[in-house]
Amino acid sequence: MTLRQAQRPVESYDAVDIIRAQRDGKAIGEGEIRWLVDAYTRGYVMDAQMSAFTMAVLLNGLGRDQIRVLTDAMIASGERMDFSALGKTTVDKHSTGGVGDKITLPLAPLVAAFGVAVPQLSGRGLGHTGGTLDKLESIPGWRAALSNDEIMAQLRDVGAVICAAGTGLAPADKKLYALRDVTGTVEAIPLIASSIMSKKIAEGTDSLVLDVKFGSGAFMQDIDRARELAETMVALGTDSGVNTTALLTDMNTPLGLAIGNANEVRESVEVLAGGGPADVVELTVALAREMLTLAGQPDADVEAALKDGRAMDVWNRMIRAQDGDPDAALPTPRETHTVVAERSGVVSRIDALPFGIGAWRLGAGRARAEDAVVHAAGIDLHVTVGQSITAGQPLFTLSADDETRFARALDAVEGAWQIGDTAPAATPIVRERITA
Ligand code: URA
Repeated sequence: MTLRQAQRPVESYDAVDIIRAQRDGKAIGEGEIRWLVDAYTRGYVMDAQMSAFTMAVLLNGLGRDQIRVLTDAMIASGERMDFSALGKTTVDKHSTGGVGDKITLPLAPLVAAFGVAVPQLSGRGLGHTGGTLDKLESIPGWRAALSNDEIMAQLRDVGAVICAAGTGLAPADKKLYALRDVTGTVEAIPLIASSIMSKKIAEGTDSLVLDVKFGSGAFMQDIDRARELAETMVALGTDSGVNTTALLTDMNTPLGLAIGNANEVRESVEVLAGGGPADVVELTVALAREMLTLAGQPDADVEAALKDGRAMDVWNRMIRAQDGDPDAALPTPRETHTVVAERSGVVSRIDALPFGIGAWRLGAGRARAEDAVVHAAGIDLHVTVGQSITAGQPLFTLSADDETRFARALDAVEGAWQIGDTAPAATPIVRERITA
């Protein structure tokens, strides 16, 4: 035996045994789950082994107790934040992601306008769903990376902060999520729930509202799977002492008219100025009410704070605190291409997923984590579902820095909208509220 071998700590379990047990539908125990997450984080368990394990979870699932242990093990892999010194109640929102989902931008300052602290530790986009940080980086000078001290100071002085989650929060999830992304194992409820909730619980918020999306532009295509995910996450949060509720919201149609980065910031500012598309306002108001209810202010008049400039005031201070200029011009595209209606009628469908993919192909999103996004790229819709239109009327405009991108974006959106003779029945965006 060499000296190096003699010094290596004895491992408590064997990864292959755990993978085989999960593959064969045998219940793996707490010790095995905790060891696996820890051993993977420190590099002892290999990516190949962890991808076999995550695939076995995707196929065979995990029980609620196992998901709780998995979440806890991921929290234990890193640091926990603590906002108790603020002396304010903290409430956060997390969306499972969708097309045109810019709600965090108007929502955080709106809720903070009521004296509640809103720590929004956010991520960048991957694939067809956009990332909040990518959108805000369209604002000249704006800085996503803040230290923990800066986050605390901004929460104290401004009330809202949207910034990059530090690398210290749930590092096991960072490694695992990157692996799932390239191994077809993102869409497993136990893995999504533990991934999201480990970061949110480690963040240390008092309350949390989850916007769990279903439909073509969401992870979960149907509402039953979205409900199962929401119930799992609400139970995880509640058991950890975070006051958690969820709204199930429709993501079959893009949210608002803007899909991209700079154009989504523009649309968010319209909402903060008391205008903006009706669906963006509806969801922003519903989530703000839910957050303020958890924060002990169920009667807060959130619409008034959008109309009278209080939310806009917090937005301006929030952007300036991170070195951004809220009055600076946002990037504009070099090339645009507008598609017009071939016939008159009523817009009966605008399908979220193809428009998300189209915007991504125009440069608004990234294919690999290290890619840069084009802030001015994206799609601006000019019509909404249910609207009457005439032949030749503009339907949507593609924006890019390079016109060669238009062909692939047009391929993506081919057949993704429909003009009929009658308007479809209007449906609310928020379908259900899930509580513990
Ligand atoms: N967002 C996350 O943070 N994790 C997932 O697994 C899916 C979405």
